[in-house]
Amino acid sequence: MKIVAKTLYGFENVLADELKELGAKSIKIGNRVVEFEGDKKMLYTTNLWLRTAISILVPIKSFSFRDEKDLKREFSKFNFSQYMTPNKTFAVKGAVNSPEFSYTKYPMLLLKDAIADFFNDKVGQRPSVDTKSPHVVFDIHISQNDCTVSINSSGAPLFQRGYRKGTGLAPLNEVVAAGLIYLSGWDMKSNFVDIMCGSGTLPIEAALMANGIPSNISRKQYAFMNWPDFDKQLWQDIYDEAPKVPKRDLGFTIVGSDTDGDVILKARDNVKALPLSKTVSFEVKDFKDAVPPEDGGTLICNPPYGERLDDFAIWDVYKDMGDFFKKQCPGYTCWVLSSNFDAFKRIELKPSKKIQVYNGSLSCDFRKYDIFKGSMIEHKYGVKK
Ligand SMILES: C[S@@+](CC[C@H](N)C(=O)[O-])C[C@H]1O[C@@H](n2cnc3c(N)ncnc32)[C@H](O)[C@@H]1O
Repeated sequence: MKIVAKTLYGFENVLADELKELGAKSIKIGNRVVEFEGDKKMLYTTNLWLRTAISILVPIKSFSFRDEKDLKREFSKFNFSQYMTPNKTFAVKGAVNSPEFSYTKYPMLLLKDAIADFFNDKVGQRPSVDTKSPHVVFDIHISQNDCTVSINSSGAPLFQRGYRKGTGLAPLNEVVAAGLIYLSGWDMKSNFVDIMCGSGTLPIEAALMANGIPSNISRKQYAFMNWPDFDKQLWQDIYDEAPKVPKRDLGFTIVGSDTDGDVILKARDNVKALPLSKTVSFEVKDFKDAVPPEDGGTLICNPPYGERLDDFAIWDVYKDMGDFFKKQCPGYTCWVLSSNFDAFKRIELKPSKKIQVYNGSLSCDFRKYDIFKGSMIEHKYGVKK
Protein backbone atom coordinates (compact mmCIF):
# COMPACT_ATOMS: atom_id res chain seq x y z
CA MET A 1 0.00 0.00 0.00
CA LYS A 2 1.01 3.63 -0.46
CA ILE A 3 2.08 5.33 2.79
CA VAL A 4 2.93 9.01 3.33
CA ALA A 5 5.25 10.24 6.09
CA LYS A 6 4.81 13.92 6.95
CA THR A 7 7.76 15.95 8.20
CA LEU A 8 8.90 19.55 8.66
CA TYR A 9 10.50 21.78 6.00
CA GLY A 10 14.15 20.86 5.43
CA PHE A 11 14.04 17.32 6.81
CA GLU A 12 12.61 15.51 3.76
CA ASN A 13 15.99 14.04 2.67
CA VAL A 14 16.95 12.75 6.11
CA LEU A 15 13.49 11.22 6.46
CA ALA A 16 13.97 9.48 3.09
CA ASP A 17 17.33 8.13 4.36
CA GLU A 18 15.63 6.79 7.48
CA LEU A 19 13.02 5.08 5.31
CA LYS A 20 15.72 3.50 3.09
CA GLU A 21 17.36 2.13 6.24
CA LEU A 22 14.06 0.56 7.30
CA GLY A 23 13.67 -1.12 3.89
CA ALA A 24 10.79 0.99 2.53
CA LYS A 25 10.23 0.71 -1.23
CA SER A 26 9.46 3.26 -4.00
CA ILE A 27 10.52 6.25 -1.88
CA LYS A 28 9.46 9.61 -3.36
CA ILE A 29 10.42 12.93 -1.77
CA GLY A 30 7.86 15.77 -1.81
CA ASN A 31 7.34 19.06 0.00
CA ARG A 32 7.28 18.19 3.73
CA VAL A 33 6.28 14.62 2.84
CA VAL A 34 7.96 11.41 1.75
CA GLU A 35 5.85 8.75 0.04
CA PHE A 36 6.73 5.07 0.05
CA GLU A 37 5.27 1.60 -0.42
CA GLY A 38 4.94 -0.80 2.47
CA ASP A 39 2.75 -3.32 4.25
CA LYS A 40 1.18 -3.30 7.70
CA LYS A 41 4.49 -4.35 9.25
CA MET A 42 6.21 -1.34 7.62
CA LEU A 43 3.41 0.95 8.84
CA TYR A 44 3.87 -0.10 12.47
CA THR A 45 7.68 -0.15 12.14
CA THR A 46 7.85 3.40 10.75
CA ASN A 47 5.67 4.72 13.59
CA LEU A 48 8.04 3.23 16.15
CA TRP A 49 11.34 3.94 14.40
CA LEU A 50 11.18 7.13 12.33
CA ARG A 51 12.83 9.97 14.24
CA THR A 52 12.10 12.74 11.72
CA ALA A 53 8.45 12.02 10.82
CA ILE A 54 5.57 14.00 12.32
CA SER A 55 2.89 11.50 11.30
CA ILE A 56 2.36 8.51 9.04
CA LEU A 57 -0.71 8.61 6.80
CA VAL A 58 -2.38 5.96 4.67
CA PRO A 59 -4.20 7.56 1.72
CA ILE A 60 -7.70 6.12 1.30
CA LYS A 61 -8.77 7.88 -1.90
CA SER A 62 -7.68 10.73 -4.19
CA PHE A 63 -10.17 12.41 -6.51
CA SER A 64 -10.98 15.67 -8.27
CA PHE A 65 -14.13 17.62 -7.42
CA ARG A 66 -16.00 20.49 -9.11
CA ASP A 67 -17.48 22.32 -6.13
CA GLU A 68 -18.66 21.96 -2.56
CA LYS A 69 -21.68 19.80 -3.52
CA ASP A 70 -19.47 17.48 -5.53
CA LEU A 71 -17.02 17.12 -2.63
CA LYS A 72 -19.93 16.26 -0.31
CA ARG A 73 -21.15 13.64 -2.79
CA GLU A 74 -17.67 12.07 -2.98
CA PHE A 75 -17.44 11.87 0.84
CA SER A 76 -20.85 10.12 0.97
CA LYS A 77 -19.46 7.25 -1.17
CA PHE A 78 -16.87 6.19 1.47
CA ASN A 79 -17.31 2.99 3.47
CA PHE A 80 -16.15 4.34 6.84
CA SER A 81 -16.72 1.02 8.66
CA GLN A 82 -13.44 -0.12 7.08
CA TYR A 83 -11.64 2.40 9.28
CA MET A 84 -13.59 2.70 12.54
CA THR A 85 -16.58 1.51 14.57
CA PRO A 86 -19.23 3.96 15.84
CA ASN A 87 -18.15 3.55 19.48
CA LYS A 88 -14.75 5.17 18.68
CA THR A 89 -14.21 8.93 18.78
CA PHE A 90 -12.75 10.64 15.72
CA ALA A 91 -11.32 13.92 14.41
CA VAL A 92 -10.74 15.36 10.95
CA LYS A 93 -7.60 17.42 10.34
CA GLY A 94 -5.65 18.55 7.30
CA ALA A 95 -4.75 21.38 4.96
CA VAL A 96 -6.94 23.14 2.38
CA ASN A 97 -5.70 25.46 -0.34
CA SER A 98 -8.51 26.01 -2.85
CA PRO A 99 -10.52 28.95 -4.20
CA GLU A 100 -13.66 26.83 -3.61
CA PHE A 101 -13.35 27.37 0.15
CA SER A 102 -12.78 30.74 1.80
CA TYR A 103 -13.37 29.04 5.16
CA THR A 104 -10.59 26.46 4.97
CA LYS A 105 -12.00 24.28 7.76
CA TYR A 106 -15.25 23.74 5.83
CA PRO A 107 -14.16 20.53 3.99
CA MET A 108 -13.26 19.05 7.41
CA LEU A 109 -16.82 19.78 8.62
CA LEU A 110 -18.22 18.12 5.46
CA LEU A 111 -16.19 14.96 6.08
CA LYS A 112 -17.14 14.95 9.77
CA ASP A 113 -20.86 15.10 8.80
CA ALA A 114 -20.38 12.38 6.18
CA ILE A 115 -18.85 10.05 8.81
CA ALA A 116 -21.63 10.77 11.36
CA ASP A 117 -24.36 10.29 8.70
CA PHE A 118 -22.76 7.06 7.43
CA PHE A 119 -22.92 5.38 10.87
CA ASN A 120 -26.34 6.87 11.68
CA ASP A 121 -27.79 5.38 8.48
CA LYS A 122 -26.04 2.05 9.00
CA VAL A 123 -26.47 1.36 12.73
CA GLY A 124 -28.43 4.33 14.11
CA GLN A 125 -25.45 5.65 16.09
CA ARG A 126 -23.36 8.78 15.49
CA PRO A 127 -19.73 8.47 16.61
CA SER A 128 -18.50 11.39 18.73
CA VAL A 129 -15.93 13.94 17.66
CA ASP A 130 -12.96 14.39 20.01
CA THR A 131 -10.44 17.01 18.91
CA LYS A 132 -8.04 16.43 21.86
CA SER A 133 -7.35 12.70 21.90
CA PRO A 134 -9.48 10.97 19.27
CA HIS A 135 -9.25 7.22 18.64
CA VAL A 136 -9.29 7.68 14.86
CA VAL A 137 -7.89 10.63 12.88
CA PHE A 138 -8.75 11.39 9.25
CA ASP A 139 -6.67 13.79 7.20
CA ILE A 140 -7.85 15.85 4.22
CA HIS A 141 -5.42 17.43 1.77
CA ILE A 142 -7.01 19.74 -0.78
CA SER A 143 -5.02 21.61 -3.42
CA GLN A 144 -7.19 23.55 -5.90
CA ASN A 145 -9.81 20.94 -6.95
CA ASP A 146 -7.85 17.82 -5.99
CA CYS A 147 -8.59 16.08 -2.74
CA THR A 148 -6.87 13.22 -0.91
CA VAL A 149 -8.46 11.68 2.15
CA SER A 150 -6.09 9.70 4.37
CA ILE A 151 -6.24 8.00 7.71
CA ASN A 152 -3.55 9.04 10.17
CA SER A 153 -1.92 5.94 11.66
CA SER A 154 0.02 7.89 14.31
CA GLY A 155 -2.70 10.00 15.92
CA ALA A 156 -0.88 12.42 18.22
CA PRO A 157 2.20 13.76 16.38
CA LEU A 158 5.28 11.55 16.59
CA PHE A 159 7.33 14.24 18.35
CA GLN A 160 5.24 13.36 21.38
CA ARG A 161 7.75 10.63 22.22
CA GLY A 162 6.46 9.91 25.71
CA TYR A 163 9.72 10.71 27.53
CA ARG A 164 9.41 14.48 28.04
CA LYS A 165 8.25 15.20 31.59
CA GLY A 166 9.43 18.79 31.83
CA THR A 167 10.87 21.53 29.59
CA GLY A 168 12.45 24.97 29.78
CA LEU A 169 10.88 28.03 28.17
CA ALA A 170 11.84 27.27 24.55
CA PRO A 171 12.34 23.53 24.09
CA LEU A 172 13.21 22.15 20.68
CA ASN A 173 10.64 19.93 19.03
CA GLU A 174 12.06 16.38 19.22
CA VAL A 175 11.64 15.87 15.46
CA VAL A 176 13.62 19.07 14.81
CA ALA A 177 16.32 17.92 17.26
CA ALA A 178 16.67 14.50 15.59
CA GLY A 179 16.62 16.13 12.13
CA LEU A 180 19.40 18.57 13.09
CA ILE A 181 21.57 15.73 14.40
CA TYR A 182 21.16 13.85 11.11
CA LEU A 183 21.82 17.04 9.08
CA SER A 184 25.01 17.65 11.10
CA GLY A 185 26.39 14.32 9.86
CA TRP A 186 27.45 13.29 13.40
CA ASP A 187 29.07 9.85 12.99
CA MET A 188 27.67 8.40 16.26
CA LYS A 189 31.23 7.27 17.04
CA SER A 190 32.62 10.51 18.48
CA ASN A 191 31.66 12.93 21.28
CA PHE A 192 28.39 14.83 21.15
CA VAL A 193 28.08 18.08 23.10
CA ASP A 194 25.32 20.66 23.65
CA ILE A 195 26.49 23.62 25.73
CA MET A 196 23.00 25.21 26.06
CA CYS A 197 20.93 22.05 26.32
CA GLY A 198 17.85 23.28 28.22
CA SER A 199 15.71 20.23 29.00
CA GLY A 200 18.13 18.05 27.02
CA THR A 201 16.34 17.33 23.73
CA LEU A 202 19.47 17.24 21.54
CA PRO A 203 21.65 15.05 23.83
CA ILE A 204 18.69 12.71 24.52
CA GLU A 205 17.89 12.22 20.83
CA ALA A 206 21.64 11.76 20.17
CA ALA A 207 21.89 9.10 22.90
CA LEU A 208 18.85 7.24 21.53
CA MET A 209 20.46 7.21 18.06
CA ALA A 210 23.88 6.13 19.31
CA ASN A 211 22.33 3.28 21.32
CA GLY A 212 20.17 2.18 18.36
CA ILE A 213 17.00 2.63 20.46
CA PRO A 214 13.87 3.98 18.71
CA SER A 215 13.01 7.54 19.78
CA ASN A 216 9.43 6.42 20.40
CA ILE A 217 10.33 3.52 22.68
CA SER A 218 8.43 5.14 25.62
CA ARG A 219 5.36 6.10 23.60
CA LYS A 220 2.34 3.94 24.42
CA GLN A 221 -0.37 5.06 21.97
CA TYR A 222 -0.71 5.13 18.18
CA ALA A 223 -3.99 5.62 16.30
CA PHE A 224 -3.51 2.37 14.33
CA MET A 225 -4.14 0.50 17.61
CA ASN A 226 -7.80 1.64 17.37
CA TRP A 227 -8.29 0.48 13.78
CA PRO A 228 -10.60 -2.51 13.17
CA ASP A 229 -7.72 -4.40 11.49
CA PHE A 230 -5.15 -3.78 14.29
CA ASP A 231 -2.79 -6.77 14.48
CA LYS A 232 -1.77 -6.76 18.15
CA GLN A 233 0.65 -9.67 17.79
CA LEU A 234 2.45 -8.07 14.84
CA TRP A 235 2.87 -4.82 16.79
CA GLN A 236 4.06 -6.72 19.88
CA ASP A 237 6.66 -8.57 17.79
CA ILE A 238 7.95 -5.32 16.26
CA TYR A 239 8.10 -3.65 19.68
CA ASP A 240 9.77 -6.67 21.32
CA GLU A 241 12.45 -6.80 18.62
CA ALA A 242 13.47 -3.15 19.13
CA PRO A 243 16.58 -2.69 21.32
CA LYS A 244 15.73 -1.41 24.78
CA VAL A 245 19.04 -1.81 26.53
CA PRO A 246 21.75 0.81 26.07
CA LYS A 247 25.24 -0.19 25.01
CA ARG A 248 27.39 -0.72 28.07
CA ASP A 249 30.09 1.67 26.95
CA LEU A 250 29.66 3.84 23.88
CA GLY A 251 33.38 4.64 23.84
CA PHE A 252 32.66 8.37 23.61
CA THR A 253 30.73 10.98 25.58
CA ILE A 254 27.28 12.54 25.10
CA VAL A 255 26.90 15.52 27.38
CA GLY A 256 24.59 18.49 27.81
CA SER A 257 25.11 21.54 29.99
CA ASP A 258 23.16 24.67 30.77
CA THR A 259 23.53 27.55 33.16
CA ASP A 260 19.97 27.05 34.46
CA GLY A 261 19.90 24.43 37.27
CA ASP A 262 16.12 23.95 37.01
CA VAL A 263 16.18 22.87 33.34
CA ILE A 264 19.07 20.50 34.05
CA LEU A 265 16.89 18.79 36.70
CA LYS A 266 14.18 18.48 34.01
CA ALA A 267 16.69 17.04 31.51
CA ARG A 268 17.73 14.41 34.08
CA ASP A 269 14.06 13.58 34.76
CA ASN A 270 13.42 13.18 31.03
CA VAL A 271 16.27 10.68 30.74
CA LYS A 272 14.83 8.64 33.62
CA ALA A 273 11.84 7.79 31.39
CA LEU A 274 14.22 6.15 28.89
CA PRO A 275 16.50 3.11 28.82
CA LEU A 276 19.65 5.21 28.45
CA SER A 277 21.40 4.37 31.72
CA LYS A 278 24.66 6.33 31.94
CA THR A 279 25.15 6.95 28.22
CA VAL A 280 24.14 10.63 28.49
CA SER A 281 24.87 13.11 31.27
CA PHE A 282 23.92 16.66 32.17
CA GLU A 283 25.64 19.34 34.18
CA VAL A 284 24.90 22.87 35.38
CA LYS A 285 27.52 25.05 33.75
CA ASP A 286 27.94 28.38 32.02
CA PHE A 287 29.35 27.40 28.61
CA LYS A 288 32.24 29.81 29.13
CA ASP A 289 33.47 27.39 31.84
CA ALA A 290 32.68 24.20 29.92
CA VAL A 291 35.46 21.88 28.78
CA PRO A 292 34.32 19.61 25.94
CA PRO A 293 35.72 16.07 26.07
CA GLU A 294 39.07 15.59 24.32
CA ASP A 295 39.38 14.00 20.85
CA GLY A 296 36.82 16.26 19.20
CA GLY A 297 33.36 15.42 17.91
CA THR A 298 30.18 17.32 17.14
CA LEU A 299 28.73 20.22 19.11
CA ILE A 300 25.19 21.37 18.39
CA CYS A 301 23.52 24.19 20.27
CA ASN A 302 20.32 26.16 20.18
CA PRO A 303 21.12 29.43 22.00
CA PRO A 304 18.44 31.96 22.94
CA TYR A 305 17.44 33.96 19.84
CA GLY A 306 16.62 37.26 21.61
CA GLU A 307 13.42 39.01 20.63
CA ARG A 308 14.44 42.67 20.79
CA LEU A 309 16.97 44.35 18.49
CA ASP A 310 18.56 46.07 21.50
CA ASP A 311 18.99 42.83 23.43
CA PHE A 312 22.74 43.27 23.88
CA ALA A 313 22.95 40.42 26.42
CA ILE A 314 22.15 38.06 23.53
CA TRP A 315 24.88 39.65 21.39
CA ASP A 316 27.38 38.88 24.15
CA VAL A 317 26.20 35.24 24.27
CA TYR A 318 27.01 34.87 20.53
CA LYS A 319 30.34 36.72 20.86
CA ASP A 320 31.34 34.50 23.82
CA MET A 321 30.19 31.43 21.90
CA GLY A 322 32.54 32.28 19.01
CA ASP A 323 35.44 32.75 21.47
CA PHE A 324 34.53 29.47 23.18
CA PHE A 325 34.52 27.57 19.86
CA LYS A 326 37.96 28.97 18.93
CA LYS A 327 39.59 28.34 22.32
CA GLN A 328 37.89 25.20 23.65
CA CYS A 329 36.67 23.27 20.63
CA PRO A 330 39.62 22.31 18.39
CA GLY A 331 38.71 19.09 16.62
CA TYR A 332 34.98 19.83 16.89
CA THR A 333 32.43 20.57 14.23
CA CYS A 334 30.22 23.16 15.88
CA TRP A 335 26.65 23.82 14.69
CA VAL A 336 24.39 26.66 15.82
CA LEU A 337 20.63 26.94 15.26
CA SER A 338 19.25 30.46 15.45
CA SER A 339 16.75 32.82 13.86
CA ASN A 340 18.84 35.87 14.85
CA PHE A 341 20.93 36.64 11.77
CA ASP A 342 22.54 39.75 13.30
CA ALA A 343 23.60 37.82 16.39
CA PHE A 344 25.18 35.14 14.14
CA LYS A 345 27.70 37.78 12.96
CA ARG A 346 28.94 38.17 16.53
CA ILE A 347 30.33 34.61 16.43
CA GLU A 348 33.04 36.06 14.15
CA LEU A 349 33.77 32.76 12.42
CA LYS A 350 33.03 31.89 8.80
CA PRO A 351 30.42 29.14 8.58
CA SER A 352 31.32 26.36 6.13
CA LYS A 353 27.63 25.52 5.61
CA LYS A 354 24.23 27.16 6.17
CA ILE A 355 21.01 25.16 6.11
CA GLN A 356 17.57 26.77 6.36
CA VAL A 357 15.15 25.02 8.73
CA TYR A 358 12.11 26.06 10.71
CA ASN A 359 11.85 25.96 14.49
CA GLY A 360 8.06 26.22 14.85
CA SER A 361 7.10 29.19 12.70
CA LEU A 362 10.57 30.79 12.95
CA SER A 363 12.80 30.60 9.90
CA CYS A 364 16.24 29.68 11.23
CA ASP A 365 19.73 29.01 9.94
CA PHE A 366 21.63 25.93 11.04
CA ARG A 367 25.25 27.02 10.59
CA LYS A 368 28.38 24.90 10.65
CA TYR A 369 31.75 26.04 12.02
CA ASP A 370 34.75 23.74 11.53
CA ILE A 371 37.23 24.27 14.35
CA PHE A 372 40.43 22.59 13.23
CA LYS A 373 43.14 21.28 15.54
CA GLY A 374 46.40 23.17 15.09
CA SER A 375 46.99 25.80 12.42
CA MET A 376 45.14 26.03 9.09
CA ILE A 377 48.38 25.11 7.27
CA GLU A 378 48.74 21.96 9.39
CA HIS A 379 45.14 21.08 8.68
CA LYS A 380 45.38 21.73 4.92
CA TYR A 381 48.80 20.23 4.20
CA GLY A 382 49.34 17.94 7.18
CA VAL A 383 52.63 19.71 8.08
CA LYS A 384 53.68 21.76 11.10
CA LYS A 385 54.55 25.42 10.48
C1 LIG B 1 16.51 27.96 23.42
S1 LIG B 1 16.98 27.30 24.96
C2 LIG B 1 17.57 25.69 24.55
C3 LIG B 1 16.45 24.69 24.54
C4 LIG B 1 16.91 23.26 24.40
N1 LIG B 1 17.49 22.97 23.10
C5 LIG B 1 15.76 22.29 24.71
O1 LIG B 1 15.38 21.51 23.83
O2 LIG B 1 15.21 22.35 25.81
C6 LIG B 1 18.47 28.17 25.30
C7 LIG B 1 19.16 27.74 26.58
O3 LIG B 1 20.41 28.43 26.66
C8 LIG B 1 20.73 28.55 28.03
N2 LIG B 1 21.81 29.53 28.19
C9 LIG B 1 21.79 30.87 27.96
N3 LIG B 1 22.99 31.41 28.22
C10 LIG B 1 23.81 30.41 28.63
C11 LIG B 1 25.18 30.33 29.05
N4 LIG B 1 25.95 31.40 29.10
N5 LIG B 1 25.68 29.12 29.38
C12 LIG B 1 24.92 28.00 29.32
N6 LIG B 1 23.60 28.03 28.96
C13 LIG B 1 23.05 29.20 28.60
C14 LIG B 1 19.39 28.92 28.65
O4 LIG B 1 19.38 28.64 30.04
C15 LIG B 1 18.40 28.06 27.85
O5 LIG B 1 18.10 26.86 28.53
